[in-house]
Amino acid sequence: MGRLDGKVALITGAARGQGAAAARRFVAEGARVTIADVLDDEGKALADELGAAYQHLDVSSEDDWAAAVERTVDEFGSLTVLVNNAGILHFSELAKTSLADYERVIRVNQIGAFLGMRSVVEPMSHAGAGSIVNVSSVEGLAGMPYLVAYTASKFAIRGMTKVAALELGRKGIRVNSVHPGMIDTAMVSEAAGGAEIDTSWVGKKVALGRVGQPEEIASLVVFLASDESSYSTGAEFVADGGATATHALKM
Ligand SMILES: NC(=O)c1ccc[n+]([C@@H]2O[C@H](COP(=O)([O-])OP(=O)(O)OC[C@H]3O[C@@H](n4cnc5c(N)ncnc54)[C@H](O)[C@@H]3O)[C@@H](O)[C@H]2O)c1
Repeated sequence: MGRLDGKVALITGAARGQGAAAARRFVAEGARVTIADVLDDEGKALADELGAAYQHLDVSSEDDWAAAVERTVDEFGSLTVLVNNAGILHFSELAKTSLADYERVIRVNQIGAFLGMRSVVEPMSHAGAGSIVNVSSVEGLAGMPYLVAYTASKFAIRGMTKVAALELGRKGIRVNSVHPGMIDTAMVSEAAGGAEIDTSWVGKKVALGRVGQPEEIASLVVFLASDESSYSTGAEFVADGGATATHALKM
């Protein structure tokens, strides 16, 4: 028996990286899955491979959200898990961060998570159960230089998660945030304009001595999507190799 048998999940930003790893695990654990992204070719290929559905979804678009939720319910009969995973990163120092760049990050990371949560209240209420997993970051727990917009958006996700958990708990809908540390995906190199970035030095700074793999976050997301986490809501789940176990004064 799969740990997600009977669940119907919509996972954003699932064409690659951590979202794709979650989609693979969800299907393996028995969930029916809609993979949603703006990377249509990669998303469709993964959906075909897994026997999942693919839906184009720009998480900053209300219309796209309406279509993605409708498609999922039409195709699978319900929607009981949302993984708000899509996100973008932008490096720049505060004094040089343009309003356009700040707003771009907020639109995808923060407004995207807000629209996603709002869009699934109705189908999850109808189902009488649901789990929303919001992917924040260690930057939702502590600040990081050169990441003002990203840090703001990830703190916002952490806060919104708690509001949603408080409002939706009596409807049987749980809402939690996930806080990964440095994970081995294309995100950092993409934010650096496509350059190959060696992140292993960051890994050496944490207790476990390495960066994380997308599958290690997918395991946590499966737990939160499943009934195994039935008494967890409004909570922060950290998977960071020990990055936040210390502070800047560490020797
Ligand atoms: N990689 C890390 O070190 C790290 C650490 C902490 C948190 N995170 C968070 O994990 C999540 C997944 O990131 P990842 O590491 O897999 O990176 P990634 O860049 O590989 O994946 C992000 C996905 O989001 C998609 N996306 C971007 N904008 C979108 C939009 N407007 N609408 C829909 N999809 C969109 C991308 O196409 C991509 O498939 C993000 O929220 C990220 O902020 C990443």
